Amino acid sequence: MSEHISQIKKEIESFAINTKDELEAFRLKFLSKKGEIPALFGKMKNIPPQERGSYGKLVNEVKQKAQHLFDSKKAELESDVNLNLSAKDDITLPAPEMSFGLQHPLSQTLDRIKNVFLRLGFSIANGPELEDDFHNFTALNFPPEHPARDMQDTFFIRKNPGNPAEDLVLRTHTSPVQIRLMKEQKPPVRAIMPGRVYRNESITAKSYCLFHQVEGLYVDKHVTLAELKDTLVMFIEMIYGEGVKYRIRPSFFPFTEPSLEMDVWWGDEKNGKWLEILGAGMVHPNVLKAVDIDPEEYSGFAFGMGVERIAMLFYGIDDIRLLYDNDLRFLKQFV
Ligand code: DAH
Repeated sequence: MSEHISQIKKEIESFAINTKDELEAFRLKFLSKKGEIPALFGKMKNIPPQERGSYGKLVNEVKQKAQHLFDSKKAELESDVNLNLSAKDDITLPAPEMSFGLQHPLSQTLDRIKNVFLRLGFSIANGPELEDDFHNFTALNFPPEHPARDMQDTFFIRKNPGNPAEDLVLRTHTSPVQIRLMKEQKPPVRAIMPGRVYRNESITAKSYCLFHQVEGLYVDKHVTLAELKDTLVMFIEMIYGEGVKYRIRPSFFPFTEPSLEMDVWWGDEKNGKWLEILGAGMVHPNVLKAVDIDPEEYSGFAFGMGVERIAMLFYGIDDIRLLYDNDLRFLKQFV
């Protein structure tokens, strides 16, 4: 009899359990009601009473062994890491490539810009993308019907079909956030205002119907043009390195007087060109008046830069559309 038991024990030990089907076959063969182990218990009544104790002990050991093996194989096969391999699976094949999310080059650039200005003591403010005429134009000293409004091709949104005077605009620049900020907060005001802006322009390598700007504003007593220049130069040196080649030119914006633009050299010494990266100036007295700040007491500077331009210069990207195509082959280069 004990030979029969050790035979079953060997079968248990050598039973191959690599799949759920094999596990079930094991259970049916040994542990189920009609399996080998209950059959061994069934034979108990044929055993002479003086041997029943040791027989029972042996069978119990076998049962525990089988049960233990079953439980541990079951847990193994059910766990996620178990691949439930069959003979035709080749585990030496390379695994499919996993792709990890990356920050978009524009977000990376925006973070860099924010970091520079946070270090220079600026805070961050935000405003709506859907603006009214007052904030986007009038308060910024664009007179009604003035041709300066045509500098920015505007997407108008008709709010009230009966009354075009109530038209809203997709903001054409982040400058309206200056107005909102100064209405909320009395000087000193020192903040940058990042955000998305919209222009009704044809889409080319250089222009897109939407892009991003970072507006800057510093209003206090005795703010000077020299401070504006220092801030801008410090900014581009922190972004592009100390050797960056730049120039500052006079320009015109209705909301600043004087106004200027800053260009950065794109390319090497011989083959290159100037690329405009920002507009700036001293806040026009009419703008301060529009938000009830006395221009006799306060002055300020403002600037507005294109995030796409700054990113394109930084990374050497020559077509703005690449930033909006979401082509992973392009985006994966900006780890
Ligand atoms: N809002 C201007 C634009 O979109 C950029 C700009 C120029 C902003 C001069 C300013 C500034 O704050 O002072 O073209």
